[in-house]
Amino acid sequence: MAFIVNEQVEEYAAEHTTQLDELFERLAAETREKTTAPQMMVGRIEGGFLAALVRLTGANRILELGTFTGYSSISMASALADDGRIVTCDVDPEATAIARRYMDESGHGDKIEIKLGPALETIATLEGPFDIVFIDADKPNYEAYYEAVLPLLAENGVVIADNVLWSGRVVEPDGDASTEAIKAFNEHVRSDDRVVSVMLTVRDGMTLVQKR
Ligand SMILES: C[S@@+](CC[C@H](N)C(=O)[O-])C[C@H]1O[C@@H](n2cnc3c(N)ncnc32)[C@H](O)[C@@H]1O
Repeated sequence: MAFIVNEQVEEYAAEHTTQLDELFERLAAETREKTTAPQMMVGRIEGGFLAALVRLTGANRILELGTFTGYSSISMASALADDGRIVTCDVDPEATAIARRYMDESGHGDKIEIKLGPALETIATLEGPFDIVFIDADKPNYEAYYEAVLPLLAENGVVIADNVLWSGRVVEPDGDASTEAIKAFNEHVRSDDRVVSVMLTVRDGMTLVQKR
């Protein structure tokens, strides 16, 4: 994954962003060592931004699609009140086993429930409202995820979709299935009269969506 802003500036921004917990260094190192796509972790800037959003909105119930090794879940959980809860889902038992370990070590494990299985099946079993829904699972399903979670969103809640700039490939005319799915998702949100949205160039691109 290539960052949207230049690498040196991205590094500078990371250096000037609070490290929420020293555990993230070890989580990132283990993820690099044991998984084939460690770049999927949100990292310090986006993790810090997600935590800030939790604090700013006073979110209490969060749904995450795409746990991986837990960087984003733990970041958000660290900003939740003690009675706050995150439901996070993934299909990868090995990555989520790593996540579970660090969640428990972080002291925020009690706030996080991991559901193993395809996200669409998990969403169908859930009841809203959720204050934040973070979409960060497989890209071809983004539009389906968006439609499935919108009815579960709290009145002033926010859907956050990650990787919406897809290393900048969204501006190229033809792309692979994931690129085309992200482009279709971005057009879908833009033409959705039910919502207002803002696309940010944070890390690999994030879109924040709220109901009108
Ligand atoms: C980009 S990673 C998530 C990164 C994570 N948010 C973090 O900060 O570390 C995407 C995750 O989606 C998971 N995934 C892929 N297809 C899925 C599906 N159908 N349902 C749920 N999760 C899925 C993958 O196993 C992978 O762990």
